[in-house]
Amino acid sequence: MSTERNILITGGAGFIGSHVVRRFVTKYPNYRIINLDVLTYAGNLENLRDVERASNYTFVKADICDAEAMTKVFKEYAIDSVIHLAAESHVDRSITDPLSFVRTNVFGTVTLLNAAKEAWKHGSGVSSTPLLGRGPGGEGRFYHVSTDEVYGSLHDDSLFLETTPYDPQSPYSASKAASDHFVRAYGNTYKLPFVVSNCSNNYGSHHFPEKLIPLMINNIRNNKPLPVYGKGENVRDWLWVEDHASAIDTVFHKGVNGETYNIGGHNEWTNIDLVHLLCSIMDAKLERAKGESAKLITYVTDRAGHDLRYAIDAGKIERELGWKPTITFEEGLERTVEWYLANTEWLDHVTSGAYRSYYDAQYAR
Ligand code: NAD
Ligand code: DAU
Repeated sequence: MSTERNILITGGAGFIGSHVVRRFVTKYPNYRIINLDVLTYAGNLENLRDVERASNYTFVKADICDAEAMTKVFKEYAIDSVIHLAAESHVDRSITDPLSFVRTNVFGTVTLLNAAKEAWKHGSGVSSTPLLGRGPGGEGRFYHVSTDEVYGSLHDDSLFLETTPYDPQSPYSASKAASDHFVRAYGNTYKLPFVVSNCSNNYGSHHFPEKLIPLMINNIRNNKPLPVYGKGENVRDWLWVEDHASAIDTVFHKGVNGETYNIGGHNEWTNIDLVHLLCSIMDAKLERAKGESAKLITYVTDRAGHDLRYAIDAGKIERELGWKPTITFEEGLERTVEWYLANTEWLDHVTSGAYRSYYDAQYAR
């Protein structure tokens, strides 16, 4: 198979990664996509059923912390670019188990950076020319997909800019901030070509139901309590995951090496307003009386150190790269609820743990 690019996507079995993998596999038949994922609790290969047999798609089960495995992958597949999404991603888990976030998000990212540096330095990628030090637009780009949480918590009506100083407040965001710093340090020290993007809260299909929106949808469906932390006054800026995948496509192809791009939907909601909106959409879809689902709302103990507000200024990516979200929140949320209701088997597999045997059934024969 002759390919224009051999792209390593890490964390491709997760929520956002699976949307990025699907987009690249279907939109770019001449790219070979290597999805590398260790399949933690958040990795679900059922997310990629529709593309798993595509001729330009390969799945590799490996840990980004395993230096030997990373070196082997770069060599075996002549990797010329990386889109790095693999991470521990849930803030609540980072509060109970910070070390696993340091391991994957910091140690794992640096292990991957080392593998890229070594592979590209010696020209073992698709090009025989050493890739380190190549100018903007060249091959060998390391793209780190990161979060707006590195900027900390907003307490006024300002927005996060690419120049906002880092001020991470949770073990999760501290680990992502550290990994962003390492990516930039490799750019400065070893001339590794890189781009970073920092995105706001995503929502959409295939989202693990520990996160607010899929958790609420699943609990409303099952008539279970809807746990709202604190007073529900915290604000998040929501972006449809497929718009994030299109932004990643844009940054990967058009972003300037060494630059950072903020990605967001200009779409702020307090948690309690969002939960009420979800309840009313679900009442209509499930043909329940108006206000029925909202009776499930239960205020619970607040998250420790809970960031008050995140809000992204996405002006740079809009102006410089021509990206903008394609759908409104109302449309995205409607589509999202419809997806979960049409895919209750996916939800049930995740909640029962059945999804964890998919790899053995499909790949490990
Ligand atoms: P996710 O938890 O759904 O998926 C993470 C994936 O990484 C899983 O498939 C998991 O198996 C894999 N993984 C974890 N540790 C690994 C390791 N050591 N080696 C290989 N694979 C490993 O996460 P997500 O929500 O899809 O987020 C993806 C990326 O985007 C993360 O880097 C996250 O910080 C970032 N991000 C997420 C959001 C969001 O709203 N979800 C917003 C901005 C940025
Ligand atoms: O901003 C980007 C970040 O968004 C990503 O980097 C993270 O990976 C992603 O998990 C997300 O972090 P949040 O902590 O904002 O997402 P979460 O869905 O966990 O929570 C959203 C808000 O809802 C937050 O204010 C906490 C609150 N919440 C969450 C849960 C799970 C509740 O009130 N009840 C809940 O049960």
